[in-house]
Amino acid sequence: MSDTVLEVKNIWKEFPGVIALKGINETFLKGEVHAIVGENGAGKSTLIKIISGVFSPNKGDIFLKGKKVRFGSPIDAKSHGIVTIFQELSVLPNLSVAENIFIGQEKTNLGFLSYGDLYKRTKEILEQLEIADISPSTITGTLSVAYQQLIEIGRAVATKADVIIMDEPTSSLTENEVKTLFKIIGKLKDNGVTVIYISHKLDEIFQIADRVTIMRDGEKVGIYNIDEVVEDRIIELMVGRKLENYYIKDSKPRNEVILQVKGFNGEKFRNVSFDLRKGEILGFSGLVGAGRTELMMSLFGFLPYDKGEIYLKGKKINIKSPLDAINYNIGLVPEDRKLQGLILIMTVRENITLPGLDRIKIAGFIKLAEEYRIAKQKVEELSIKTPSIEQKALNLSGGNQQKVVLAKWLNLRPEILILDEPTRGIDVGAKAEIYKLMNEMAKEGISIIMVSSELPEILAMSDRVAVMAEGELTAVLERDEVSEEKIMHYATPRSVLSKAS
Ligand SMILES: Nc1ncnc2c1ncn2[C@@H]1O[C@H](COP(=O)(O)OP(=O)(O)OP(=O)(O)O)[C@@H](O)[C@H]1O
Ligand SMILES: [Mg+2]
Repeated sequence: MSDTVLEVKNIWKEFPGVIALKGINETFLKGEVHAIVGENGAGKSTLIKIISGVFSPNKGDIFLKGKKVRFGSPIDAKSHGIVTIFQELSVLPNLSVAENIFIGQEKTNLGFLSYGDLYKRTKEILEQLEIADISPSTITGTLSVAYQQLIEIGRAVATKADVIIMDEPTSSLTENEVKTLFKIIGKLKDNGVTVIYISHKLDEIFQIADRVTIMRDGEKVGIYNIDEVVEDRIIELMVGRKLENYYIKDSKPRNEVILQVKGFNGEKFRNVSFDLRKGEILGFSGLVGAGRTELMMSLFGFLPYDKGEIYLKGKKINIKSPLDAINYNIGLVPEDRKLQGLILIMTVRENITLPGLDRIKIAGFIKLAEEYRIAKQKVEELSIKTPSIEQKALNLSGGNQQKVVLAKWLNLRPEILILDEPTRGIDVGAKAEIYKLMNEMAKEGISIIMVSSELPEILAMSDRVAVMAEGELTAVLERDEVSEEKIMHYATPRSVLSKAS
């Protein structure tokens, strides 16, 4: 076929204990957006890592414009016109935004005659991404995860590529940023670029994809033109069964107020006050940069706060470090799990049982049998895909690593659990499991604060929804009055302005 840009034939990939890919065949056409979906661990990232030269396959061939190729590294692939945005962020935190966007461009000086020139081109890219408020000279590591993700996207856009591969590019973006990305993808497509797009968000796929490939357990189980398939069919193929009762929420908060936050101030938020009741699920909504994550980090003692009071069951407490928070029975599953939640070189079992060790220690000895039992149970509950509980966390797929972090906190069963984007990068089947667990915990009286950029899950799971914009709490909406429109209204910085005037 003349419009085939890239083709993979009979790709096999085996890791110790896992066959990640079992003979994948696929063609990618010029100027199409080709989505790849599948559960956590289905093999999506492995496939694109093989295409982009991170791994070599055990068997199979790759053809680029009809010619057999095999790339030794992502840089090699890039020089042949295949650029990949990996699931794990790969910006260099110590370099400037400009350097990150243009790194690896072949010519000297990152391809530019002067820094002025480099900054000018960077500004153009930042404008396209609608983040022109960021300066090209900003050190990338000081930006939030969302911005870092946008910088990665900028890096791909800056390259003249035939094929751009995006592995969950929107995982930390909120709606406006996603819209911008989709505009950019539209432009790339018009220019004949092929975009391979991996995402767990099926609504995104229906918006931008031309075709969708569905993978399950290392096999391709379907390919459709997007206008010839419905969401339920895709899910059924992905998980191998029909999914019912996606959102389960019948927990009810008790009257008792567990946590009171009064006049809380930090670097990125101001004058935040709210209550949390026993067994309540309190959603926190807002745009990226609204200050939600920083607020939670301060509540948990990761970041300092300069003013404000915290009351736990009516008693004033001081939280100066995560250890304080844990001692008060407060847990946090952070947004950036790679950095803060998971010890990659340790096993799945160790990661799950680590913070809960005290509970299963008897006279100084860890009851190994108990540890095994708990780890096995959590792996099953959250359907964590791993050949064994002794696998090192770093060998798990992205989504499964996240499930391990969640499992560890679910195991600890704190009184107050803060979940920052709990279902990011997690597949539909496992999401349903997580909602079920949240509901159960709330029923048992555990209070949950859920920061989420996913409006459907905020609407479905929250007893009340707190909305933040530009560092301020702009509304706390009751379950029976909350709607997508109301949230968006209070989340837009404009509403802060009009409120203040
Ligand atoms: N370096 C590795 N060593 C051992 N096993 C690996 C390695 N990389 C991936 N795997 C295994 O290969 C399988 C496929 O993983 P892959 O990362 O491709 O999944 P995925 O579809 O991208 O999932 P997710 O949606 O969670 O990102 C998984 O079972 C995973 O544990
Ligand atoms: Mg992946």
